[in-house]
Amino acid sequence: MSQFKTPSQPVWDPLIRIGHWTLVIAFFTAYLSGDDLFNIHKWAGYVVAAYVLIRIVWGLVGPKHARFSNFVRGPGAVFGYLRALMTGKVKDYTGHNPAGGAMVVALLFSLLITTSSGLALYAVEDNAGPLAGIVTEQTFAPLASAFGEEEEEEEHGGRKEESGSEDLLEDVHKAFVYITLALIGLHLAGVVASSLAHKENLARAMVTGRKRVHDPDGDA
Ligand code: HEM
Ligand code: HEM
Repeated sequence: MSQFKTPSQPVWDPLIRIGHWTLVIAFFTAYLSGDDLFNIHKWAGYVVAAYVLIRIVWGLVGPKHARFSNFVRGPGAVFGYLRALMTGKVKDYTGHNPAGGAMVVALLFSLLITTSSGLALYAVEDNAGPLAGIVTEQTFAPLASAFGEEEEEEEHGGRKEESGSEDLLEDVHKAFVYITLALIGLHLAGVVASSLAHKENLARAMVTGRKRVHDPDGDA
């Protein structure tokens, strides 16, 4: 029976797992539809935004391994872990390791700015979406002119030129899409490196929710 199997324990709750894979699909759907399939883009973006908000709340009130207090560590622990990763002498963690924890925070932050700039852009461009009426062309006008994005009032063939706010929000939206993509690249490299170092398939653990039971000294 179980004496031949490596003992495992539940770590990632269903919200984390279903949320993670929903996020992966929604993020790439939003990325690929950003240019010209706006209806799809909008809904995929809303899914990402909802995930981020729910995950932040879950980080405060969710079960042990979902909580920020369980995996957010200082720079010392993060760099210590990365150094150990180079030498292959990492200690095991039940939940996120310190570098993984820092990556979770970076990804959530970057996704928060990507989605909120998208929502603000939609409100300014089309006066639509959840921020319609809350965010207007005027909201970011002072910031936009501080960044040299001046308002252009003249009409071109009956179509009003983009406002400074719109330009600024578009720049922020695009920049954070690329920052998020760069973080995803590092995230995947981290998952591979840590899976090798801990001799455990961490991507599979994000599917099954279970991780190996290990030396209790390494528990976090
Ligand atoms: C096929 C590609 C991907 C794989 C295999 C993967 C794998 C994983 C794994 C194994 C973890 C847990 C890390 C740990 O054990 O500490 C994780 C966490 C996470 N990943 Fe990914 N990931 C992928 C793509 C993405 C993408 C595209 C995003 C962002 C858009 C993302 C965002 C996150 C976040 C936010 C967490 C934290 C989960 C939580 O605590 O709720 N991942 N991922
Ligand atoms: C993580 C989620 C998201 C990703 C990856 C993403 C990605 C993109 C990309 C790649 C573009 C095209 C930029 C270009 O023209 O080069 C774009 C444009 C845009 N996005 Fe998003 N976006 C996300 C979320 C959102 C959300 C939640 C909204 C709000 C409805 C939104 C609204 C817009 C708008 C209004 C444009 C400009 C469309 C146009 O005028 O052509 N985005 N986004």
